[in-house]
Amino acid sequence: FFAGVGSKPLAGRRALVTSGPTREPIDAVRFIANHSSGKQGHAIAAALSHLGAETVLVTGPVNLPDPPGLSVVHIESAREMLDACQQALPADVAVFAAAVADWRVKDAAASKIKKGKGAPATLELTENPDILKTIATATGNRRPALVVGFAAETDDIVKNATEKRARKGCDWLLANDVSPASGTFGGDANTLHLVRDGGVEDWPRMSKTAAADKLAGCVADYFKDHPAREAEAAS
Ligand code: C5P
Repeated sequence: FFAGVGSKPLAGRRALVTSGPTREPIDAVRFIANHSSGKQGHAIAAALSHLGAETVLVTGPVNLPDPPGLSVVHIESAREMLDACQQALPADVAVFAAAVADWRVKDAAASKIKKGKGAPATLELTENPDILKTIATATGNRRPALVVGFAAETDDIVKNATEKRARKGCDWLLANDVSPASGTFGGDANTLHLVRDGGVEDWPRMSKTAAADKLAGCVADYFKDHPAREAEAAS
């Protein structure tokens, strides 16, 4: 009997989780952001840690306390989030729950742009790195064994999520219903559909903490059938 194997099925595993929004600077005092609360990502990091995984949570600015017992890296922009994720590798499992801004301002000003004096009529945007896709398509031990992405969808949820899973190169994709009627954004509950090789599992609407525990349980089940990295290296 190995102590803790029952209650800590992810002991000896490393997990990486992203959470929250990113902030993309316009100038020294202004930024572009979004409404992500970080509730789902933080709950997932806490749930994986609870099952014994050594967990790194990379988060944008949120109004949530750092979950205890794991390593939390606070970042602002998408590029900082990618750097922090790269530094957290290798990992056995990575879950990308952050609402990363797709775009950033091309030439953010180092000082405050004055009203009327050179204030730009338009902001020129440039694409941010896709953190999930970058890490899901990495090679060797830079590619976690299990990569999980999210897809916020309002229509054709499962169809779009299935396509997104292929496009991003992730193993599992959790499609979440963010239609305004769902109240998901900033709310405490989530309606998720888990898309993986075998098909789609529709989860009932549940709290974000219950969804995090359910996902962590699926991750633990996955690793039951997969040797630890140490064991792989030794064989
Ligand atoms: O393409 P879309 O933004 O809908 O994809 C959502 C998924 O991709 C989420 O898992 C999100 O965390 C991740 N993502 C990312 N980096 C981006 C954009 C999205 O990691 N720049």
